[in-house]
Amino acid sequence: MRIVLLGAPGSGKGTQSQRLVQRFGIPQISTGDLLRSAVARGTPLGVKARAVMEAGKLVDDATVLGMIEERLAEPDVARGFILDGFPRNIAQAEALDRMLNTLGKPLTAVVQMDVPYAELTRRIAGRRSCQNCGRVYNIYSMPVGAALVCPNCPGNPPLFQRPDDNEATVVERLKVYEAQTRPLVNYYGQKGLLQSIDAQGEVDAITALLVGVLTSPAGEKARSVAGGTTRVKPRRAVKGKAKAKAKAKTKTKTKTKAKTKAKTKAQTKATRKAKARVRPARRTAAARRPVARKKKKAPARKK
Ligand code: AP5
Repeated sequence: MRIVLLGAPGSGKGTQSQRLVQRFGIPQISTGDLLRSAVARGTPLGVKARAVMEAGKLVDDATVLGMIEERLAEPDVARGFILDGFPRNIAQAEALDRMLNTLGKPLTAVVQMDVPYAELTRRIAGRRSCQNCGRVYNIYSMPVGAALVCPNCPGNPPLFQRPDDNEATVVERLKVYEAQTRPLVNYYGQKGLLQSIDAQGEVDAITALLVGVLTSPAGEKARSVAGGTTRVKPRRAVKGKAKAKAKAKTKTKTKTKAKTKAKTKAQTKATRKAKARVRPARRTAAARRPVARKKKKAPARKK
């Protein structure tokens, strides 16, 4: 599997990538994580990238492509990979195609995760991460009053908010996404690689949807990519369909029940009639007349 997860900031690319890593045993390659790590370590690349990231702009293509090329040369990507946050524009997508064609390992799927803007900004505002393990949390899905610490790391280190998760930067990141990254939907659609999912709802349900899309049988995939983009029905729609199906099933059940009841009634009636038919013929009046009892002989009196 060589997968690209496309989606606006906050659409859940990182969250779902971590789950796909568990599911498929292939690594997640997040350019955002690689850049944040360079920033944290204070490398020359990190120092250069820091201001750009905090402004919500894209780091230059040469830097990002250099990082990706290096990462794709590592042995753990031999079985596949999940690209999260890369490519971010057409130039990066074309460069990636060239790199993978040289390796003889082209992309196998691109999934676009759709989430409305209001939900994206809410998710980003609530995001908190663990500096130690990189796990991502959200204050809106944590129990009320829970301490903002990582429950999975020894010593429970405090969670932090990314510096680019402030309101002004988020507005800029969403603008950059629309202008530079959104065109990739067409790019991959034309290549017949793109599938879109509604990425709203329970995290587990979205993982199931993603896994379904990525593992659907070859024939189904071939049919679905024929027109370019495939849209996997949103959960709500699926729910609606399931409801309608359930309703139809209940209707059929009720009909069948009514039919069975009518049948049983008819059968009972028929049985009664049949029984009546085999009932012995009525006795004639003479036959009905009580048979005269024989008088018992009175015992002889003792003299
Ligand atoms: P990057 O780190 O890639 O950020 P991004 O693309 O803006 O995406 P995010 O990490 O914000 O969101 P996500 O989709 O991963 O959502 P998440 O799972 O965390 O990039 C950061 C910066 O680095 C860029 O701005 C740029 O400067 C630079 N950069 C990176 N790559 C680059 C490239 N290729 N070229 C140039 N520059 C590059 O989820 C968000 C929150 O929502 C979390 O709190 C999570 O818990 C919650 N959540 C997830 N799913 C759900 C759900 N179903 N319901 C409710 N909450 C949910």
